[in-house]
Parts: sequence; structure tokens; C-alpha cells
Amino acid sequence: MSKRARPPEEALADVRTAILDDETLVRGLATGSRRGHSVPWRRIEFRYVELKSGLVLQLTSYDEYTATVRNAPVGSDDADNLVDEMVDLPFANWHVDTTSEVMQLRITKKGEALLHVEAAPEGRAIDRAHDRQKPRMLPADHPVLRAVGISDQSGQIKPSRQSKYRQVDEFLRLLDKALDSALESGRLQPPTADGPLRMVDLGCGNAYLTFAAAAYVQDVRREPLEMVGIDVRPQARDRNTAIAHDTGLGEVVTFQSSTIAAAEVSERPDVVLSLHACDTATDEALARAIRWRAPVILAAPCCHHDIQAQMSGSAPPDPYTLISRHGVLRERFADVMTDALRASIVRQEGYRVDTVQFVGSQHTPRNTLLRAVRTDSKPPESVRREYDDLILAWHIRPALERMLETSEPVDADVRPG
Ligand SMILES: C[S@@+](CC[C@H](N)C(=O)[O-])C[C@H]1O[C@@H](n2cnc3c(N)ncnc32)[C@H](O)[C@@H]1O
Repeated sequence: MSKRARPPEEALADVRTAILDDETLVRGLATGSRRGHSVPWRRIEFRYVELKSGLVLQLTSYDEYTATVRNAPVGSDDADNLVDEMVDLPFANWHVDTTSEVMQLRITKKGEALLHVEAAPEGRAIDRAHDRQKPRMLPADHPVLRAVGISDQSGQIKPSRQSKYRQVDEFLRLLDKALDSALESGRLQPPTADGPLRMVDLGCGNAYLTFAAAAYVQDVRREPLEMVGIDVRPQARDRNTAIAHDTGLGEVVTFQSSTIAAAEVSERPDVVLSLHACDTATDEALARAIRWRAPVILAAPCCHHDIQAQMSGSAPPDPYTLISRHGVLRERFADVMTDALRASIVRQEGYRVDTVQFVGSQHTPRNTLLRAVRTDSKPPESVRREYDDLILAWHIRPALERMLETSEPVDADVRPG
């Protein structure tokens, strides 16, 4: 091991050379700022990554909540410039792992460079996989993730909550894209302090996703927000309200105890979320969202019993007896039919709809998400015809269709502000 005090320029030149060596660099990290200086990033990391276009030097820069990635082709001027740009910033610490060495550089309060170099552990390998570390949408140590029990007090994801965190992460990715798409198409106006983004979460339960969505919009997208979580259970409202206050979100996220059908909001929501609301509660949520003309709807259905029960009550059309004979297959078929009919109804109501899988089926079988962005365009006649043909053949009438027929006109759903 060697440890020497050297002029910073000289030690940083060694760091630069080590980072620009694509044959040996494992990763190069910089953190903290020198005394009396500030740096624009909490942490930066260099590594070489194999992309379709070839090997690139990848820089990932982390601020409080987001990670930004920049790539430069290996050996290019861009790669040199990227490293120069970072080395010139007044970072206090550099840690560079190569296949043969560990270099640790600290710039002291006096402005001296202390460089420690030691041999790398035996057999250290370079990982160039592109997706080794997809940056998470909300960092594990975000206060809301601690408050809802996904992370522990040190900000680490609890082993038993890993799959919940993945679900939250995938959901935030979909929310992010849906918001961008609605903003780009002009369906959503850019949120302002006077006109914040208004979201409701119908059947919010313990509000993991409510809080994650609120934290993401407010802290990562940095958009003004008003959010309401609605659940029929008063205990959920009380617990979630306490968490909102504890995490400083009390002004932004509020909770009501109400059925989805009876929920009152002071303004029309821009975004309606409904995740794993039980059985026809998903239909209640879709009916409310449609009546509010919400520009964005994200709904992940849960258990389905309505269509299943209707299917069991009458003989299946030819040649579907085979599918209906086996209980498990009949249930799965009814699940698919329920969501296909919901998607068709939402489309007929003037939305562009797609269904996506929002977390791997190994994590939960309830992983279909219906994503709808309002367009107000009338779908072709064939959409209504296909729908009618299917429900007539099976002698069924989806809950959502029944709810839309009986629901109140839109203005009656919105309490005067
Ligand atoms: C399976 S939990 C899902 C909670 C949360 N959305 C999530 O994904 O973690 C379903 C929640 O919906 C609520 N719920 C069911 N039917 C409801 C209804 N008709 N109106 C309001 N809440 C309802 C339940 O009380 C429960 O908390």
C-alpha cells in the first residue's frame, strides 16, 4: 500500500488516467465537496458499458432524488472531455477501482491531496452489462418509503419489502410516462402553484403507492401537487393522515374515508389511480374517472368475480364449453374477459387505452395495468360492435357498463371548491 500527500493536480491526473483506461477500469466514484466549495452532484460514477452501438464510457450523476446518465464512445474526445469536466469539479473524494488497484484520493481541508493506492482483491472482474443498475425512480432512503415501512431507519429496503419496492418502482415509471404523454399532447396543462397536478387514489389502502406517487411528483418531477387518497376503511384514513403529517406532506396529501362511488373531490382530478381495489371497486373507480373526464387513468385490477359469476350462470357459447369446464381456466378466462371489456368501455368513452404488465408475474399475478389517456376521439363503429358481440354471446353485462348507465352527471360529482 502507498500513501502520499501530493499536489491535487498531480493526483487527479492519476485518477483521470485510470478512468480513461477502458481495459482496466471497474468503476470510478467521486463524492462530497472540498471545504468552501460546492459540487452539483451528491455522487458521480464512471464505468464502461457495452451498448448496441459499442463500448461507451458511462457517467451517472446522482442528485438528491434523481440519476442522470451520459455516455461517450470509448476513446473519443467526448470521453476525455467528460472526465476532464468531472475531475475539474471540486469533489473532495475519489475512489477508483481498477482490475489491479484500489485508488482512494482525499483532498484535505488544507487543499492537499492524500492518495492511497493498494492492490485490488484477487480476481476482480469488470461488469459491463448495460442494465446492471437501473436507477430507481425513488431512492430507497426517501422519507416516505421509511414511513410506509418499505425501508428501514437506515434507508435500506427491508428484505421482506423488496418486491413491494419493485412494484412501486415499476408503477412510478408508468406514471411518469403517462404524465409526459398527457402533457405532450396538451391533455394536461403544466402544473403550477395555482393549478397543481390533481391526483386521486381510489381504494388507496395503506397508501404505499399514494405516498410514492406524491413524493415522485413533488420531489423528482418537482411539480406542484394536490393528492387525495380514498378508502372505505376509516383506519386507513387515520393511519395515512398521520404519515402524511409525519413526512411533511400533510398539506399536499389528504385522505378520506368513503366508498369510491360516494367520494367527493373539490376539483376535477387530472390523474385517477386505482391499484388493486377489490373486484368491482375497480369498476367504480373507472366509472368515476370517466365521469370526471380525468385526462389520465391508471388502474390495476384485483380479484374479478362479477363476470365470473355471470358466466357460471349460463351456458357458454360454442365452442367455449371446453374452457368453461375447468374451474381454474374459467376463472382466468373471466379475468381476461373482464379487463378486455373494461378496456373497450374506457375506449368507447374517448380514451386511448393500453394494457401493460407493470411488474413481473413472479412478484404478483395481479400485474395488469390499464393505462388510459383521454383523447375525446370517437372510436370506429367496430369497437362497439365487437363489444356487443362478446357480451351477447356470453349473456353478460359488465359492472362498469351498469355503473356508467346509472352514475350521476359529471358536475354533481365535484363538490364546489
Ligand atoms: C388490496 S387493497 C389495495 C390498496 C392499495 N391501492 C395498494 O395497491 O397497495 C384494496 C383497498 O381497497 C379498499 N376498497 C375496496 N372496495 C372499496 C370501495 N368500494 N370503496 C373504497 N375503498 C374500497 C379496501 O378497503 C382496501 O384498502
